[in-house]
Amino acid sequence: MGNQFFEPYDVVITDGLVVNATGSRLGTVLVKDGLIAGILDAGAPLPAHIRRIDARSQLVIPGGVDPHCHVGQVLGEFSMLDNHAQASIAALWGGTTTIIDFAIPEPGQSPLEAVHEKRKAAQDCRTDLALHGGVVSWDRTTRDQLLALADLGVLTVKMFTTYRDGVMAGFDTIEKVMEVLAGVGGVAIIHAEENHVIEQAQAEELAKGRGGSRHHALTRPEAAEASAVKRALQLADETRSAVYFVHQTTPEVVDLVAAARAAGTRAYSETCPHYLTLNEEVYESDRSELFVCCPPLRPNSSVLGLRERASWGLVHTLGSDHCCYSTQQKEKYSHDVRSMPNGLPGVENRLTVSFDTLVVKGGMSVENFVAMFSTNPAILNGLRSKGWIGPGADADIVVLDPRKTGVISATSHHMKSDYSPYEGGEFTGWPSTVISGGRVVVDDDGFHDPGPVGRHLSSKAQLDAVPLLAATVTGGSQTTYAEIESEELLA
Ligand code: URP
Ligand code: ZN
Ligand code: ZN
Repeated sequence: MGNQFFEPYDVVITDGLVVNATGSRLGTVLVKDGLIAGILDAGAPLPAHIRRIDARSQLVIPGGVDPHCHVGQVLGEFSMLDNHAQASIAALWGGTTTIIDFAIPEPGQSPLEAVHEKRKAAQDCRTDLALHGGVVSWDRTTRDQLLALADLGVLTVKMFTTYRDGVMAGFDTIEKVMEVLAGVGGVAIIHAEENHVIEQAQAEELAKGRGGSRHHALTRPEAAEASAVKRALQLADETRSAVYFVHQTTPEVVDLVAAARAAGTRAYSETCPHYLTLNEEVYESDRSELFVCCPPLRPNSSVLGLRERASWGLVHTLGSDHCCYSTQQKEKYSHDVRSMPNGLPGVENRLTVSFDTLVVKGGMSVENFVAMFSTNPAILNGLRSKGWIGPGADADIVVLDPRKTGVISATSHHMKSDYSPYEGGEFTGWPSTVISGGRVVVDDDGFHDPGPVGRHLSSKAQLDAVPLLAATVTGGSQTTYAEIESEELLA
C-alpha cells in the first residue's frame, strides 16, 4: 500500500464481507493497476481513490475461475455457436473472470497444433484464459508434444474414455500420458464413462425403440461412470500422476475419488451446477433433447447425495461444462442420442445457480462455496494470481448480492444458445458488480466492454506443494447463509 499518499487507488470496494476460501472479514478492498493492493478494516478512513463501490450488505468474493468451458469447439457434425468474445462476455455477466477452455485435437491435428490454434481463436477473449490440452491417441511424437505443452504452460491434459468415433482415448493411451504428466507436475483431466458399457446400453435401448433423448439417462448408466473412474484411479496410482475428474454426477464416484485421495493418490472431483440442481425427470418433458449432456442428469437421490458430498468438502470444483448449442442443433437427432450434440450452456449461470442451491438452500458456508467456485479451480490449474482476495492477487472481484432473486431465461441471458436449461427458474445470489483485471465490467449501468484484453495464462501446477483451500479442510472460519441473513455480519 506504499503509494496511497501519492496516487489514488483506481477502485475501492467498501464495507462488504470479503470472503476467501480460508475465512471472511468485513473490509474495504483497494485496487490499483489491475491488482489488489490491500484490504482495510471496514469503516477505516478511505484513501484517495477514483471510484468507490459500496458493498455494504453484500459479499466481496474472488472472480470466478471456470475450469471447464468448451468454446467454439467442433465435435463431429456440430460446431458450438459461440466464440471467445461471446462466451467471455457471458462469463463476466455471471461473475466468472477466468475461463479454462479445451484444445482438443481435431482429426489429423496434433495436441500442440490444437493449442496453437485455440490460442489464435481466443484472441478476442474478454477474460483471462487458460487451456487444457488434449490427447486422443498415442503416437511416437506424443511424449515430446506433452513436454512442449508443459513448456507452454499447458500442464492439464484432457482425455475422454468415451465417444469412440470422436475423441475417445484408450486406457493404454491414458496410462502413457499420465506417466509423462507425473514427470512434469501435470494433471490428467478425465471424462470418465466406460464406453463399452454405454454402447451396450445404447444398443439394448435402441432395440426396444428407446434410443432417443427421452431415454438418454438409460443409455449412459451410473455404473459406466463408476467403472471408468475406478480404472483411471488405478492408473493414476500406478503412474503417480495427479488426476482430475470432470463433471462427476453421483455420490459413488465422488466417494471413489475421496477414498483414493485418502490412500495417497492426488485425485480431485469436479461437478457442474446442472448435476446439483436438475434431475433425470427432465427427460420426461417434451423438450428432453435440450437436457442431453454426458454424463446424463441423474435420479434425485443421486443429486441429493452429490450435494451432500459437496457440503462435506469432497467435491473440489464447480465447472460449467459450457457447451453452446441451439434448439435446432439439439433437435436434429433427438430420436438417436448417439448422434446428438451433447452439453448445456452454462458459463453465465455457474455462480447464481450453484450459490442458490449450495449456500442459500443447502447451508454450505460461503467460504466453501468460494473454494469450489474460484480458489480450488485456480489452485488445481496452477493459476496462482487467481482465486483469492489479498495484496498481490489479480483484481478479479465480484460484489455479490446474496439476497437478490431473479429469473434465468434465454430471453435475458448473454450466451448464444437460444434456450436455457433453467428457463423461468428463480435463483437467489446475483453479481451486482464485476471487476476483471481491475476494470469494472458489470455494474448498475450494465456491461462495460473492456475489449479483447484477456491474457493467456500459463499453468504452474505443483500440486505436491499447494494444498487445496476449503474451509472445511483447513478449519478456517465459516459463514452460513443464515448468519448473512441475520444482518449482523453485513455492516
Ligand atoms: O455433454 C457434454 N458434457 N458435452 C461436452 C463434452 C464433454 O463431454 O465434456
Ligand atoms: Zn466430458
Ligand atoms: Zn466438457
